[in-house]
Amino acid sequence: MHQVGLMSLENDNPWVEVADEAQLEDNKIKLVRVKDVKIGIVKRHGRIFAFSAMCTHARIFLAPGRLGADGLIECPMHGAKFSPEDGAVRCAPATEPLLVYDAKILSGKIVVNCEGRLQAQSKEAVASAWAKWTTQ
Ligand code: FES
Repeated sequence: MHQVGLMSLENDNPWVEVADEAQLEDNKIKLVRVKDVKIGIVKRHGRIFAFSAMCTHARIFLAPGRLGADGLIECPMHGAKFSPEDGAVRCAPATEPLLVYDAKILSGKIVVNCEGRLQAQSKEAVASAWAKWTTQ
């Protein structure tokens, strides 16, 4: 995994407050904006996840929306699925993982580290996602 410098913030602190925790319902993906970058945030089982709000397949918004019953982010356009934890593709047709961001709750506020992480995904994992998708 490597860091991707997404934006430069005035005070060099990559952590940015994006929402009140009270605004988040479990499994409901909220769209937030940091400067001109759109990020999806979601709470599930007490954990907060943040990820690029844009599907890597054809640039459709993944937020607002809901996590599926399987806990995955599902694109409303063609049904690609991504892990909210590391952005990995779990179901084709997307082949590129989502950029994800570290996120946490601080005094009732959701804060996101704007230096995103991009998970290197193996060819085998992408092939497996395709195989599942094409046999559905
Ligand atoms: S745009 Fe998301 S799966 Fe095609």
